[in-house]
Amino acid sequence: MKTRITILCENLVGELVGSGEHGFSAYIETDQGNYLFDTGRGHSIVGNALALNKDLRTIQKIFLSHGHYDHTGGLPEVLELRGKVDVHAHPHVFLDRIAVLEENGKEIKRFVGIPYKAAYLESLGANFVFNKDFVEVEKGIFLTGEVPRNTSFEKPDPRLLSEIDGRVNQDIFLDDQSLILDTDKGLVVILGCAHSGVINIIQHVINKTGKDKFHAILGGTHLDFLTPEQLEASIKSLKEMKIDKIGVSHCTGMRAAFRFHQEFGDRFFYGCVGSVLEV
Ligand SMILES: [Fe+2]
Ligand SMILES: [Fe+2]
Repeated sequence: MKTRITILCENLVGELVGSGEHGFSAYIETDQGNYLFDTGRGHSIVGNALALNKDLRTIQKIFLSHGHYDHTGGLPEVLELRGKVDVHAHPHVFLDRIAVLEENGKEIKRFVGIPYKAAYLESLGANFVFNKDFVEVEKGIFLTGEVPRNTSFEKPDPRLLSEIDGRVNQDIFLDDQSLILDTDKGLVVILGCAHSGVINIIQHVINKTGKDKFHAILGGTHLDFLTPEQLEASIKSLKEMKIDKIGVSHCTGMRAAFRFHQEFGDRFFYGCVGSVLEV
């Protein structure tokens, strides 16, 4: 399968066109059709798609990595252009979610879940297709489903909470899933925020596909909140894997991105708005 992946929404802008926002979205072109992975938060997806010459009206499916607002907030904008379309996600994508933040020395809580109800999105054309397990969504294209947590060093972010059955607890992100493209050069994995842990995700992909050669790992890795020891453990594990390219984005954080650049050299790139991976 031939594939071109373009980062549509991201925190940073790398080309002469486009706008940055705190969010993530990738536009995927294949010889089978076009797809959208996440939608950003809604501010930049339509303008960036126009600027980068990507037609949102042609996408065959939408995949959602998890229910955070910065990955799902652009759904109405996309649906208004596209109309009826399958939206693949884990059922927990609609959980209420909270982030505990510090602003001006005070602890505050902010709602960070999906900003829209299912019925509203369905009225705009979304046909939700839920999965909890690993699934082939198109020939050679897979969603990871729920990712088992096996590593000792990848811990959930304590600042992120969710409400399940009326109780608010640390968010365990059962809905966090990544997209896998089986290309001629190896697997390409697109991460949303990698709340399951990037190493847990890659191990799960190896277990489910039976393949361990990765052409690229792209997207948000959420490594910024980790201690330096945890970050180094993740880097050590990545170095033991067969990965040609690592393109981090979004919630990776500059500290982790710089360390990746040091360790992976030419195999590293920063995936900003307009970055393209062609396979
Ligand atoms: Fe995110
Ligand atoms: Fe997230």
